[in-house]
Amino acid sequence: MELPVADGLGPLLSPVFRPMRVEDIGSIVEIEKEAFPTPWTAGAFQNELSNNHFAHYLVMEVEGDIAGYAGMWVIMDEAHVTNIAIRSMYRGKKLGERLLTELRSKANSRGAKRMTLEVRVTNRIAQNLYEKLGFRSVGVRKGYYTDNNEDALIMWADIPEERWKTS
Ligand SMILES: CC(C)(COP(=O)(O)OP(=O)(O)OC[C@H]1O[C@@H](n2cnc3c(N)ncnc32)[C@H](O)[C@@H]1OP(=O)(O)O)[C@@H](O)C(=O)NCCC(=O)NCCS
Repeated sequence: MELPVADGLGPLLSPVFRPMRVEDIGSIVEIEKEAFPTPWTAGAFQNELSNNHFAHYLVMEVEGDIAGYAGMWVIMDEAHVTNIAIRSMYRGKKLGERLLTELRSKANSRGAKRMTLEVRVTNRIAQNLYEKLGFRSVGVRKGYYTDNNEDALIMWADIPEERWKTS
């Protein structure tokens, strides 16, 4: 039997989502290092998982391998995305889109009605993903990124209601 194919991308991958666990942090930090110029440390993730009651972190697995992760803080009816990354070998296969859609769904089930994030002004790839999922740029945080003093775009999206979902 042939697997379904997404235009020119090869077989569609079937990701599995689950909450991030402390045991994942080693793999997560490796992905973080290949994805960001100022990666979060293991201690930062440890603190998020153990001490931050607003924080929710998801891991996406493909055939048992951690292919990406994303996190957010849900405060009242707003979700603030803290980070999202796909391991480089898995990029361009619609997995970032699946992951952000799942994060948005989790935000919705926790009562969030809007989602926000910051993104480097030069990170067109991520901006394209966010725009595809309904995010719009509403402003700029000047010099937000300390490594090169780059500005951040502030983006917001309304979260579509998912009344039929229970979790
Ligand atoms: C941004 C990131 C999460 C996207 O994940 P991905 O799995 O590669 O993206 P997807 O395959 O799901 O693509 C979804 C959309 O993103 C955009 N996109 C993805 N790759 C792109 C590329 N090479 N060029 C332009 N746009 C691109 C497109 O809008 C795409 O939709 P389309 O395929 O219908 O055009 C991934 O590139 C990544 O981890 N980057 C490093 C970390 C990072 O920058 N995180 C964001 C910080 S704010």
